[in-house]
This record gives sequence, C-alpha cells and structure tokens, in this order.
Amino acid sequence: MEFLKVDRVNQCALLCALLVGTLYLLVNWTPSGVLSQIQEQQLPRSKSRDILAGGYTDELGKVLADASAGNNKTVIITVVNKAYIEGDKSMLDLFLDGFWLGEGTRPLIRHLLIVAMDGTSFERCKFLGLHCYRLKTEVDLDGEKVYMTPGFLTMMWSRTQFLGNVLKRGYSFIFTDTDVMWLRDPFPRLNQNRSLDLQISVDGFNGDPWSEDNYMNTGFYMVRSNNRSIALFDEWYARRNASSGMKEQDVLTQIKQEGMFRTLGFSVRYWDTNYFSGFCNESKDVRAVITVHANCCRTIAAKAADLSTVLRDWKSFIGSPSSSSTNGTAAFQWSAHVACQHSWL
Ligand SMILES: *[C@@H]1O[C@H](CO)[C@@H](O)[C@H](O)[C@H]1NC(C)=O
Ligand SMILES: *[C@@H]1O[C@H](CO)[C@@H](O)[C@H](O)[C@H]1NC(C)=O
Ligand SMILES: *[C@@H]1O[C@H](CO)[C@@H](O)[C@H](O)[C@H]1NC(C)=O
Ligand SMILES: *[C@@H]1O[C@H](CO)[C@@H](O)[C@H](O)[C@H]1NC(C)=O
Ligand SMILES: *[C@@H]1O[C@H](CO)[C@@H](O)[C@H](O)[C@H]1NC(C)=O
Ligand SMILES: *[C@@H]1O[C@H](CO)[C@@H](O)[C@H](O)[C@H]1NC(C)=O
Repeated sequence: MEFLKVDRVNQCALLCALLVGTLYLLVNWTPSGVLSQIQEQQLPRSKSRDILAGGYTDELGKVLADASAGNNKTVIITVVNKAYIEGDKSMLDLFLDGFWLGEGTRPLIRHLLIVAMDGTSFERCKFLGLHCYRLKTEVDLDGEKVYMTPGFLTMMWSRTQFLGNVLKRGYSFIFTDTDVMWLRDPFPRLNQNRSLDLQISVDGFNGDPWSEDNYMNTGFYMVRSNNRSIALFDEWYARRNASSGMKEQDVLTQIKQEGMFRTLGFSVRYWDTNYFSGFCNESKDVRAVITVHANCCRTIAAKAADLSTVLRDWKSFIGSPSSSSTNGTAAFQWSAHVACQHSWL
C-alpha cells in the first residue's frame, strides 16, 4: 500500500534505477566482459585482441597452426616477393602447377605456408586462398632480386632469421625455393629416419649421403625443430654482419667446414640428385625423381621458361604408356635448359 502512495516522479526514479542497474550488470558481469578485463590487464592491447579472436598469441602462431594441421607440427615453407607473381605464367603459378601435376602432391598444398616479402605478393597469396604470412623487413623487397645483389642478400638473410623463429616455436619444416617443382610427395622418404636433424639437397651428389664434402643447396631441405637445429640457425644468422657479401648458403657451408655440425651433434643427410634433382645435375631416373630445382640458373625469366619445359616433359611422361612399363625410364629424357644456360652470358 505504501507503494501506491509514491508520486509519478518517484516511480520513474525507481524504475530507472532498476533499469540502469540491470544494464550495468549485463554489460560488466557477463563472462566475456570479465575475461576481457582480466586479459587486458595482463597483456598489451593488440595481443589480448588476438587471443580473444583465435587463441593464438600472434599472426605467425595462427598460420603455423593452420598450415601444420594434421601434419605433426610440420609445414612446407616458401618465400615469395612481387617478382615471383608477375608475368603470364609467374614462378608462383608454376610452383603451384607442380603440386597439381605431381604424384600425390595435391593434398600437400594444405600444409604450404607462403611467406610474402611485400604487400602485393601477400595479396596474391590470399587471393589464391593459401596459407599466407607477411614478413616485414628493414628495406623494401618487392623487385626481382638478381643473384648476389644487395637486395638478394637481404632477402636471403631475412628468411634465415624467420626460419629460425619457426623452429623456436616448435615447428619442423621443409623449406623449398619457389623454383622447385614438386613432382612427388617427399615426406615418405624424408620421414624414413626420424633421428635426422637436417636433410638437404645438393648441387652435385658425391655418392655418400653422410659425406660433408657434398655441396649442399639450401633451396630444398627439411629440418626438425630441436635444440640442435635452433642453435644452428642462431649461429647461422649471427654471422650475417661478418659475412661480407657471402650468401647464407655459403655461410652454412663455412659453418659445416668449421666442424660445427659435429660439435653440435647435428645429424645431416645429403640427398642424391636422383631424387632431389636440379638443373646443375639432373636426375636420370624420372620414376624416382621427387623434386626438380631450377638451380645453376641466374634469372627468374630463365627459370620460368625452363621450368615450364620441365612440367611439359613431366606431363608427357605421366601421360605416356611407358610411364607404367619397365621401359619408360630408358625412353625418357629431360629437355635441355636452354634459357638457364643463356642466363649467365
Ligand atoms: C610425429 O613426430 C614425432 C616426433 O618426430 C614422431 O615420434 C611421431 O611418430 C610422429 N607421428 C606421426 C603420425 O608421424
Ligand atoms: C639415421 O640417422 C642417423 C643419424 O642421425 C644415422 O646414424 C643412422 O645410420 C640413420 N639410419 C639409417 C637407417 O639410415
Ligand atoms: C654436378 O654439377 C656440377 C656443377 O654443374 C658439376 O661440376 C659436376 O661435375 C656434376 N656432377 C655430376 C656427377 O654430374
Ligand atoms: C632443450 O634444452 C632445454 C634446456 O637447455 C631442455 O630443458 C629441453 O629439454 C631441451 N629440449 C630438447 C628437445 O632437447
Ligand atoms: C648487424 O649490425 C647491425 C648494425 O650494426 C645490428 O643492428 C644488428 O643487430 C647486427 N646483426 C647481427 C645478426 O649481428
Ligand atoms: C623396351 O624398348 C625396346 C626398344 O625401345 C623394345 O625393343 C622392347 O620391346 C621394349 N620392352 C618392353 C617390355 O616394352
């Protein structure tokens, strides 16, 4: 009865207080409100937002988790810039064609992480619907990086530093240059011996997979994440400033020659070019070949021309009846790498 006696002004004040109170509770005491308050106290603003979005601390963590899903914390990494996406048939197009035409390589595209050195190649990667990561570097890296120019060296070193960070996050990876055609799935062969820290392609194979005298090529290798590989990549990158114009591959060779692989207990297998082949020394056995690298070649245009020919040769091999008869190998021959031979002149 007391209630009925209060005037209209007091009634409104009471209702408003109730309403405001309810709204206050809704906004501030729902579970998500509590969560964001706690997390923003503990972390810088941008980081807390990433955690709320997907449970990862940053963008690299997210793309690595996505690309390695179902592949035992192992990813396939290639690095591109604008020069690799230009032209009627770009280097990236050819690279992807390899996965399309290769034997058992199509599903591997899900584990491929494309690291883009500039905004244009990053946009192209996203347009293709692949896993993409934009790597920021100290200088602009969007043009063609001709072999051994300062831009080429900066790009090489940035990737060494980046790959060391991937290992530190607990991910193993196959690094592949974009001018490597994947004609077969390499994992069955690379997973044969899980105690190996590094398995790497070579320019010329001397016949002994354990011999340090093999001339390794950093355009294709698999490295497992562990203390030894992390220490090795730290040492590799630490030599950047003291390397006076040497490319990172030569610095790794120097580290090997100084005996550091043995000191670290870092086990390395050098792969026969019969399986991991290249233009320097091409595989004689098209039935065994897994990858073909446009090494011993200077420009992107020359590589693209000769890799188109590799894919054409491969298509005629898989389309020919001889690919399933014991006679196929003898009949098959790779075409000459004419453009690459001329790229040095
Ligand atoms: C995943 O990797 C670990 C460590 O290298 C290995 O022991 C395990 O057998 C692998 N599992 C699969 C399914 O390949
Ligand atoms: C596996 O790799 C280790 C080096 O880590 C080597 O000692 C061993 O012989 C290899 N096993 C096979 C079967 O090749
Ligand atoms: C492999 O290639 C290198 C560089 O072109 C050459 O010097 C070497 O003779 C080749 N080796 C074989 C076995 O073909
Ligand atoms: C790497 O080293 C750290 C400390 O030095 C150790 O705690 C860890 O177990 C090591 N991990 C492996 C995989 O050897
Ligand atoms: C190289 O030198 C620059 C400047 O002198 C320095 O900022 C950078 O940390 C050095 N890098 C390495 C890997 O030592
Ligand atoms: C293999 O090729 C040779 C010569 O090209 C031919 O004479 C022979 O019949 C072939 N053998 C088979 C099994 O196809």
